[in-house]
Amino acid sequence: MGFKEGDAKKGASLFKTRCAQCHTLGAGEPNKVGPNLHGLFGRTSGTVDGYSYTEANKNRAVEWGNDTLFDYLENPKKYIPGTKMAFAGLKKEKDRNDLITYLAEETK
Ligand code: HEC
Repeated sequence: MGFKEGDAKKGASLFKTRCAQCHTLGAGEPNKVGPNLHGLFGRTSGTVDGYSYTEANKNRAVEWGNDTLFDYLENPKKYIPGTKMAFAGLKKEKDRNDLITYLAEETK
């Protein structure tokens, strides 16, 4: 099973409640506890300037896109053992599809 286009509106509210305390999305917005996610799609993991990643996140060297985010967000600690992202994961495929659909638009 992989990514399927979801509902960006639902994704927006998921982002607000589950991610926004640690991440910004817009160009030029600051890093918070986690890195700014602007330009995420097509970017290699661990490469935002000025953000202090774990070695684990950098060494994973994955290209972020629909399918890699779909797997990562289910269980970040399994996908990147040793990450400092304190987030248990979104277990429902529909939630991940909705959130990734929103992220693809908002991080452009
Ligand atoms: C409690 C804070 C926190 C929450 C909540 C959180 N993150 Fe993170 N996130 C982080 C941290 C910290 C890192 C950096 C991890 C590292 O260096 O090991 C990170 C890394 C990431 C990365 C990798 C970025 C890169 O440049 O490689 C993505 C993608 C990401 N988070 C997306 C999300 C999404 C989407 C959500 C909501 C479902 C979320 N995060 C929730 C703190 C958080």
